[in-house]
Amino acid sequence: MKKLGIMTTGGDCSGLNSVIYNIIHGGMRRGWAIYGILDGTDGLIGATPNVVRLTADTLPPESAFVAGSILRNGNVGHTNGFERAVQSGKYAQFTKMLKKNLSGLKLDALILIGGNGSLSLAWKTRDIYSDLQLICIPKTIDMDIPLTDKTIGFDTAVSQLTHFCDDLMLTARSHHRWFVVQSMGRNCGALALTAGVASMARAILIPEIKFDVDKLVKHIKSAPTDYGIIMVSEGISLRGHSGRPADMISRKLSAAGIANRTAFPEHIQRAGDTTPNDRILAARMADAALDAIENNETYVMTALQNGEITTVGIDTVVSSGHPERDPNISDLTISNATVSDDDPLLVAADNMGIYIGETK
Ligand code: F6P
Repeated sequence: MKKLGIMTTGGDCSGLNSVIYNIIHGGMRRGWAIYGILDGTDGLIGATPNVVRLTADTLPPESAFVAGSILRNGNVGHTNGFERAVQSGKYAQFTKMLKKNLSGLKLDALILIGGNGSLSLAWKTRDIYSDLQLICIPKTIDMDIPLTDKTIGFDTAVSQLTHFCDDLMLTARSHHRWFVVQSMGRNCGALALTAGVASMARAILIPEIKFDVDKLVKHIKSAPTDYGIIMVSEGISLRGHSGRPADMISRKLSAAGIANRTAFPEHIQRAGDTTPNDRILAARMADAALDAIENNETYVMTALQNGEITTVGIDTVVSSGHPERDPNISDLTISNATVSDDDPLLVAADNMGIYIGETK
């Protein structure tokens, strides 16, 4: 009987439980024993690894679409443990302990559900996983993982952010004012762009596209309404200004006489019942991960490419994106996917008269 471990690392998002549910059921049908590692790699560093046996009863279907993760007991995860180890100068001991405790579990395979930081770190510390098959499943609301068209959690985050904006529209209209909504997403504008289009935003500012404040002001002043949404990704910057991007833009609009307020949906974007699209992606990726184990693959990530689920080498993933230094872990370069100039949604938004910056 194969022994399979599941670990979720990095920030949470809706959809993690759907992946875990599908792995439990698909794995058990194959006759495998499934173990959940609690609290990411932190669950592996104590004297006794924090591991539980997962069975069909562990996660009933009605809890499999709830946000969060049954494998997370607290606010700790993969990178946090590594960060603390780096900060306390105990990086080498930390990785040694991880490998020792992981080997002690005698797993045949580990499914790591993580974001681009976790993937880059897993590749950098790949020796930890050399005694088993490592299969990764991409999850993040940021959609910044290269080589996959979708990540688990993105669709739900778009839905959460869109509903947040929808709720603001009536008060915006009642008070003849604009809402500058700041989305999450780090250095990738995918979430802001997608939810911005879905929210009928008048302007969408993302880190990938330079913008001109005067043109933004002109665009808002010439709008057919005196209210609406201006979506601002948390990754944008404005020369000579510091602080939260939405506040910067809000001040500029106020200075130009445009009535506005800011709104910060924050971690609500990582919450909410998992959308059907994310649940379906979770089922397909879980199935592909189990297949990859049967096919003796290792150091691979499941990926959605042109509608098909496939696997790609983690080495290719980490060498494909735009490199960015991790601020907390020295020597770690994270590989980022970003929105390209010819992104069809970006082009459509531009064609629909949404101000998306200086694209030409
Ligand atoms: O990577 C996911 C994400 O939600 C980003 O969009 C955001 O910048 C960050 O995590 C927030 O992290 P924390 O939960 O530590 O505040």
